[in-house]
Amino acid sequence: MSYACITVAIEESVGLITLNRPKILNALNLQLMDELVAELERMDRDPEVRAIVITGNEKAFAAGADINEMAEASAIEIMKRDQFAVWDRISLISKPIIAAVSGFALGGGCELMMSCDIVIASETARIGQPEINLGVMPGAGGTQRLTRAVGPRKAMEMLLTGEPISAREAWQYGLVNRVVPVEAYLTEAVKLAKKIAQQPPLAVQMIKKAVQKAEDLPLIEGMHYERNGFYLLLASEDRKEGMQAFLEKRKPRFTGN
Ligand code: HXC
Repeated sequence: MSYACITVAIEESVGLITLNRPKILNALNLQLMDELVAELERMDRDPEVRAIVITGNEKAFAAGADINEMAEASAIEIMKRDQFAVWDRISLISKPIIAAVSGFALGGGCELMMSCDIVIASETARIGQPEINLGVMPGAGGTQRLTRAVGPRKAMEMLLTGEPISAREAWQYGLVNRVVPVEAYLTEAVKLAKKIAQQPPLAVQMIKKAVQKAEDLPLIEGMHYERNGFYLLLASEDRKEGMQAFLEKRKPRFTGN
């Protein structure tokens, strides 16, 4: 598959998707989002891929939705584009997605980062929701995911001022998992993805879904969801292999069955 706005590589069961509009700081135009989500869905179906990394470049993960595509369009035109439908499909990807973030992650870039399951940030990352400066507000989860991630007070400050925060502050608020030197953000993300790619794939996907459910379900229903996942995994070949390998004091070989 060849794309205009992203590049794709697969190595050791890790799918790497690089946003590739460097001249305009990886601004997320409609085509980029279509390509990104099409490739995420393709990787989700591809048994060669067990974990996915999304990255940009050192200067920008993504500086938001492409303002050129919005500036002249009417509200009705933008509504008819239904551009958020493609965003909603990201949360349906069953394999874990790691964002490797350096430089600007603003607006839609921050929303894309928050749509990922784990975030490795370079110490140069600048993360925020500056839509208010353009007279609008986030549309792809900025008010909802940010509030869940950092709490209403910090979210309110970030959304109302439009000021980005540093990687370190994002880490303090739990918005990113880890902050590393700029030379290391991508290698660290890929290393983590490779580690997850060695885990039993069915358990990985079931755990991802259960954690996602924890955001939405009351505790008791979440506990039931978890328990059913636990029972289901007991029926897998990988569970036999995992427990047998433990007893035999050897490394397990997981197949995804
Ligand atoms: C289109 C963009 C862009 C964007 C940057 N560029 N961000 N083009 N859409 N979101 C372009 C600039 O116009 C410029 O093009 C080039 O990228 C380099 O940017 P500079 O501004 O020259 O770089 P710098 O001075 O380093 O400033 C970086 C910046 C600034 C602070 C990130 O570019 C900026 O404020 N960008 C807009 C950020 C933003 O408001 N994002 C939210 C968008 S709304 P030229 O041709 O001049 O070289 C949004 C809504 C989400 O995301 C809704 C869900 C989809």
